[in-house]
Amino acid sequence: MALAQLLDNFSQLAGPYALPIFALVGAFSALHYAFRFLNAFTSIFILSGTNVRKFGPPGSWAVVTGASDGLGKEFAVQLAQKGFNIVLVSRTLSKLNALAVEIESKYPKTQTKVLAMDFAQDSAADYKKLSDLVQNLDIAILINNVGKSHNMPVPFLETEDAEMEDIITINVKGTLKVTKIIAPGMVERKRGLILTMGSFGGFLPTPLLATYSGSKAFLQHWSTSLGAELQPHGVQVQLVIAYLITSAMSKIRKPSMMIPTPKGFVKACLGKIGVTGTAGGRAGTITPFWAHSVMHWAIESLGIWNSFVLKKNKDMHVSIRKRALRKKEREAAALKKGH
Ligand SMILES: NC(=O)c1ccc[n+]([C@@H]2O[C@H](COP(=O)([O-])OP(=O)(O)OC[C@H]3O[C@@H](n4cnc5c(N)ncnc54)[C@H](OP(=O)(O)O)[C@@H]3O)[C@@H](O)[C@H]2O)c1
Repeated sequence: MALAQLLDNFSQLAGPYALPIFALVGAFSALHYAFRFLNAFTSIFILSGTNVRKFGPPGSWAVVTGASDGLGKEFAVQLAQKGFNIVLVSRTLSKLNALAVEIESKYPKTQTKVLAMDFAQDSAADYKKLSDLVQNLDIAILINNVGKSHNMPVPFLETEDAEMEDIITINVKGTLKVTKIIAPGMVERKRGLILTMGSFGGFLPTPLLATYSGSKAFLQHWSTSLGAELQPHGVQVQLVIAYLITSAMSKIRKPSMMIPTPKGFVKACLGKIGVTGTAGGRAGTITPFWAHSVMHWAIESLGIWNSFVLKKNKDMHVSIRKRALRKKEREAAALKKGH
């Protein structure tokens, strides 16, 4: 009603110019949406990203955090395949050593270094070890992949303090501290790529994953700001948005059209560096996997992303929590029976 009144008032005010003004505004909006659609379509389905080899010559290194499993492991393997030497960082030394052997036997020219550290400990001694390890290396690529989510969706007020602190310490502090160690060398060499794992949880507020969602939103703004600071020094900074991927963290084992394997996701990611049209044109951001990108585009472009998406997101996590609690009860009952 208010809109009809507004248009009526405007028509009376503009007199004979009202119709051409309406036509012009209509044409401009149609062009705007057509351009957005075309940009998204070409970005998602046609354009290739910057070749990662541009960030460093043969013999240069990539540092991957959270490297022993899931996406991190896949980033390490695929970057080794592209000729980078790899520094592998995560908690479990045995898994890191096994991966180092796997990489070196598959790609005999590749060198690896491993560092076992627990980002949740936030230990100055561990960061010093990392700093010493990379001191004389030409690091071309940093993959800030390590991350922790909630063990299951949980209302914020019921979140255990230890879980809340670990999420912030690993996702936020860990990423910042590793980047502070690695980025100065990139600035000196005037080249490099810093890629940080974000999430749909950072792009869409996610009830029952509030601390995780907030940590990823932090990374979104931090990464984009850092990108603007480092761009004049030749260092490209990218925040990567993902929906779900099969992994230990997502607890999803079966891939589907919407849920790729780490292999498929990382391949898409390394092929779309710099193609921000996959993330609705957000500076320094990519949503590299095509089905996630289409969903990202639909949520943003159709303008429905406020309360509707928030409610759907909440309903989905309430239902996941119910199922997870039931599973926990079943497991506890089975354990009791076994004794
Ligand atoms: N999977 C998804 O659906 C999804 C969606 C969006 C975004 N992401 C993001 O993608 C990234 C990787 O997720 P993922 O699914 O690949 O996880 P994942 O399969 O659970 O792997 C996590 C990796 O991090 C290491 N890690 C865990 N806690 C650590 C700690 N405290 N200190 C050092 N290393 C630690 C693990 O090895 P150790 O156990 O040996 O330490 C493992 O190598 C995360 O940042 C996540 O938020 C994932």
